[in-house]
Amino acid sequence: MKNNNHLRCKIKVSAPGKLMLFGEHAVVYGLPCIVTAVDQRMRVEIELSNDKLIRVSSPDVGIDNLELKLSDNLKNIPKGAKFVFTSIKNFYKKYNLSSGLIVKTKSDFSSSFGFGSSSAVTVCIVKALSELFGKKMGRKQLFDICFQTVLEVQGVGSGFDIASAIWGGTIYFIGGGKKILPISTKSVPIVVGYTGIKADTSDLVNKVALLRRDQPETIKLIFSAVSMIVKKARKAMEINDFKSLGRLADMNQGLLDSLGVSTQKLNDLIFSSRMAGAYGAKLSGAGGGDCMIAFYSKNNLERIRDSIKKAGGIFIPVKTSAEGVRIER
Ligand code: PMV
Repeated sequence: MKNNNHLRCKIKVSAPGKLMLFGEHAVVYGLPCIVTAVDQRMRVEIELSNDKLIRVSSPDVGIDNLELKLSDNLKNIPKGAKFVFTSIKNFYKKYNLSSGLIVKTKSDFSSSFGFGSSSAVTVCIVKALSELFGKKMGRKQLFDICFQTVLEVQGVGSGFDIASAIWGGTIYFIGGGKKILPISTKSVPIVVGYTGIKADTSDLVNKVALLRRDQPETIKLIFSAVSMIVKKARKAMEINDFKSLGRLADMNQGLLDSLGVSTQKLNDLIFSSRMAGAYGAKLSGAGGGDCMIAFYSKNNLERIRDSIKKAGGIFIPVKTSAEGVRIER
């Protein structure tokens, strides 16, 4: 079926989840980080409807056929639909549109892992709308509108997760999207352990902001050390030097611990994976829970996996450097 403008009426899009490899928190202050896209994806289907309503179904976050109007206030919208609603609103505002939509989202991964379900859904929505309405957008344009959306809903963030969902692969990213550079590397050999605890990114970013206000010189030194680690990690990654990456991960972890964002559970998983022979290990993302990563060599992969389970973590199988946002046929 085609509408009057010969545009498509229904479209399916998917975008990858992400894992922060190096540089979390410092990236919020305009410094670099390295992030990789994972092979577990967010999937969104959007269909044009004949009324002015936005109907959202996101069973993963308990949303079933929620009816929204563009005039609704963000404050009154359930948490699980805020990113969907704000992405549509921002896109419609930019292009002066108002059509009704039926939006369905489905994720390959749990929204508790910290794999970036909110940013991936935001990217999927804007990409799908640009196709549906025939508004061609380059990757940077897509980034800008999605980043604006995340800031409106979440208040804080560097945009690294948005860039990862759009570009895919493994990227070197400077806070706010000042630089987004693909790193030429094979798939990065990491094991992922989930603590079972859902972290709140905004709370942790605010916690570090308070510490920075209290100890500005010290935090500046810590962040510049993190920045140096990120730059060295980029070089090590380009020559597939995973042993060095492991050592850099350990150093990055020490600095994150000094910011007060690691937890006993994260440290348990990190230390057991090191004891099991990992090249190095660190938390991934804001901290406070979510996931840790360990760099492995092939001959101790099994032992590291087991050590994470023994320490009370949940092993999550992922492949890294996955493809960025794409239209699904
Ligand atoms: O918790 P996550 O996986 O969304 O990662 C947050 C990373 C921070 O650097 C703490 C925040 C950000 O937006 O860069």
